[in-house]
Amino acid sequence: MSMLEKTLGWVDDRFPLSKMWNDHMAAYYAPKNFNFWYFFGSLALLVLVMQIFTGIWLTMNYNPDETLAFASVEYIMRDVEWGWLIRYLHSTGASAFFIIVYLHMFRGLMYGSYKKPRELIWLFGMFIYLALMAEAFMGYLLPWGQMSYWGAQVIISLFGAVPFVGEELAVWIRGDFVISGATLNRFFAFHVIALPIVLLGLVVAHIIALHEVGSNNPDGVEIKKVKGEDGVPLDGIPFHPYYSVKDIVGVVVFLFFFSAVVFFMPELGGWFLEKDNFLPANELKTPEHIVPLWYFTPFYAILRAVPTMFQSQFPGVVAMGLSIVFLFLLPWLDRSPVKSIRYRGWIYKFALAVFVISFIALGRLGTLPAGGIYLTLSQIFSVLYFAFFILMPWYTKIDKTKPVPERVTSK
Ligand code: HEM
Repeated sequence: MSMLEKTLGWVDDRFPLSKMWNDHMAAYYAPKNFNFWYFFGSLALLVLVMQIFTGIWLTMNYNPDETLAFASVEYIMRDVEWGWLIRYLHSTGASAFFIIVYLHMFRGLMYGSYKKPRELIWLFGMFIYLALMAEAFMGYLLPWGQMSYWGAQVIISLFGAVPFVGEELAVWIRGDFVISGATLNRFFAFHVIALPIVLLGLVVAHIIALHEVGSNNPDGVEIKKVKGEDGVPLDGIPFHPYYSVKDIVGVVVFLFFFSAVVFFMPELGGWFLEKDNFLPANELKTPEHIVPLWYFTPFYAILRAVPTMFQSQFPGVVAMGLSIVFLFLLPWLDRSPVKSIRYRGWIYKFALAVFVISFIALGRLGTLPAGGIYLTLSQIFSVLYFAFFILMPWYTKIDKTKPVPERVTSK
């Protein structure tokens, strides 16, 4: 027995190291027909780790003080060795994270991965998504630029629209009557420690739930239903080495595009870093257009599409909240007998296409001024967005499905 095997044996007698490796890697049987859409889970993990590491290094030189924050970011960009790279990795990483997560969620919609028995995977995923939005929102205040300041001002004042307790609630969140140093300090605490812990915990829960029931696949066939004599699903292959190696291909392709942005266009024309954020926060000068970053704009468009009532923005805030709540309810709204889009009828395909177009259109409209034709379009697409969910129990029931094969296909 080699020294290494002896050491492993010693550890295994005291800690389930080999067992964990087998349960989650070498003897975790994943369907053999994973396609392109299955790259995004591991890519999300990669970006999560990258954000944590670049975040730690940024924190070494960042200063969460309202008089120093902006200058400390400039210091990182100009004087700290490789500081510009660490910051651009982190800022580009934030947008990349959302692109990956949106594609990852879209895969779930295509293949019905949220359906029984994977409801909890989906719910943990939705909580991850909420935590990620909070993480991005709070991180955006830290550079203390004009858009950091005014973006936070607009979003937090939305809480002021809640009847009766709104104003107190907004003051409680800010720790002041306007965004101030107190807000910056607490957002820093949440961004660098509280939310990352929550995110990590949720990701662990997400993967434990996934490995408990097993992965879905592009055919939506439960591979555990057809097992060989050894108890291994006939359509399953060990995650390691097959998918651990395949995922490296995804990582390389992703890093290719990611590096192109980081090194050649880190601002991406204002989509990843807004122009106004290169100006220090000025509480006396409101920017002409206050626009959140692209990953929030679909929800921002829904908020603005709802007219104010009794001089209150509350109905819009409710609509925005509901647009996320409906995503949580998906496993119970979908009544189709099949999971994958491959075996669904035309109605679901059509509904999903309209939903995706509406989401993208709302994202664009959220960056444009809310008036005239843009407002009308936002209202139309908001209705279509909600129709996808509200009508789902009906159209998934009447949609004509095709027979699902016993085993996965090798398309
Ligand atoms: C930090 C963010 C996230 C990480 C690191 C993560 C990680 C993963 C990983 C590694 C997998 C297995 C590989 C794969 O199927 O691609 C997975 C599967 C899954 N994730 Fe996520 N995820 C994240 C966010 C989300 C979100 C926001 C949702 C939805 C709301 C979600 C829903 C799902 C579902 C339904 C599956 C099972 C898919 C299937 O088996 O077809 N995840 N996730």
